[in-house]
Amino acid sequence: MDKIIITGGKQLKGNVIIEGAKNAALPIIAAAILADSPSVIKNVPPLSDVHTMLSILASLGVRSSLDPDKKEICIDPSGIDSWVAPYDMVRKMRASICVLGPLIGQFGKAKVSLPGGCVIGQRPVDLHIKGLRALNVHISVQHGYLEADAPDLQGATIFLGGRFGSSVLATANVMLAAVKAKGTTLIYGAACEPEIVDLAHFLNAMGARIEGAGSHAMAIHGVERMHGVEYNVIPDRIEAGTFIIAGAITQSNITVNNIVPDHMLALLDKLAEAGVPFEVGKDYISVNARSCTFKPIELTTLPYPGFPTDMQAQMMAFMTTVPGISIITEKIFPERFMHVAELLRMAADISLENATAIIKGGYHLSGAPVMASDLRASAALVLAGLVANGETVINRIYHLDRGYFNMEEKLRALGAQIERVPS
Ligand code: UD1
Repeated sequence: MDKIIITGGKQLKGNVIIEGAKNAALPIIAAAILADSPSVIKNVPPLSDVHTMLSILASLGVRSSLDPDKKEICIDPSGIDSWVAPYDMVRKMRASICVLGPLIGQFGKAKVSLPGGCVIGQRPVDLHIKGLRALNVHISVQHGYLEADAPDLQGATIFLGGRFGSSVLATANVMLAAVKAKGTTLIYGAACEPEIVDLAHFLNAMGARIEGAGSHAMAIHGVERMHGVEYNVIPDRIEAGTFIIAGAITQSNITVNNIVPDHMLALLDKLAEAGVPFEVGKDYISVNARSCTFKPIELTTLPYPGFPTDMQAQMMAFMTTVPGISIITEKIFPERFMHVAELLRMAADISLENATAIIKGGYHLSGAPVMASDLRASAALVLAGLVANGETVINRIYHLDRGYFNMEEKLRALGAQIERVPS
């Protein structure tokens, strides 16, 4: 397993280019099986999660090729001859569940392994099941698999809100089945994330008829056929936010390019409150944080357009360096605090009260060997390592590779002292 070694204290400078959004690309790749001809999907990050999704499609009989230089995937669904997504693949990546909707839409059948829990807490699928059942899908849990049978897929009116608000992938799965249902589906309590809007744009380009994506009320008028298209995935707002925080935490001037700043308003709002100076352009954000004094903040993660849970760990790493008391409450995944114990090993002062972290910031972080526990927690440890005294060694870096393409190379190009050591 590779590790990353960072010697902290270097200021960063320059430009970084952001990849396409992993969380938009994954359901879009799955959606390509709804077409009766090949699709070319561009601006796809060549990440391990994308490879996992392509392996699942390959096991269904879908031919695909990924050009990592062009960041482009061609997906030909014409050879598809199976509707079973096996445990061995699904367990590697929870987002595999988004093959369920397109398999039901295309074949009226699916057997997809239940992904199980993960380090960020319980990951139930009750909303996926509720939404699909409303579309007249017979769905049951058999031997660890979700088995779905839908000989007569029917549009319906569905309320999809859950205990923690809307669900991104449950919304995606219902959309992906409903595009081929008879009649109109109305989803209330739909997720509004930019990745859902991107999925709707992709599906509409393929011939679907979806209205209202990006709001809590979405209408999907079923169609009989869909065709392959060429499509560009939106930029990754979480990778972008992580680099913006890299600029802030190291008190540097850097520019993050190829982004949609409007997708990042909640983060920018909190950074402004923390006193981080930045300039927003059409497709870039420049952080100008040389010699800045920052202020502590209070934030709560919420569904979009609220502050994203996928930026919580990185923001916490930043707040450990800011004098004063910051308070971070996690309302999406209340157990998503695995990074806290590792940040404590780096001399941070954080205490947890249920789903709230109280961060006494402003002490110098101290480099240490730490363990990456999940994707965004790994990113938080990299950020902490950039400013810690001495050397930080981050183990289990495969978590980082699931969501960040060449992160250490991008940081090194900005001036960080960081290297990957294969073991
Ligand atoms: C997606 C993102 C993930 C992000 C998360 C929240 C992808 C590939 N992943 O995950 O990076 O952290 O959104 O923004 O896009 N829930 C239920 N029942 C369900 C489904 C979800 O109660 O059937 C709950 C979850 O436990 C959680 C909340 O709803 O508390 C939101 O989760 P959800 O939006 O579904 O997360 P994912 O779509 O899995």
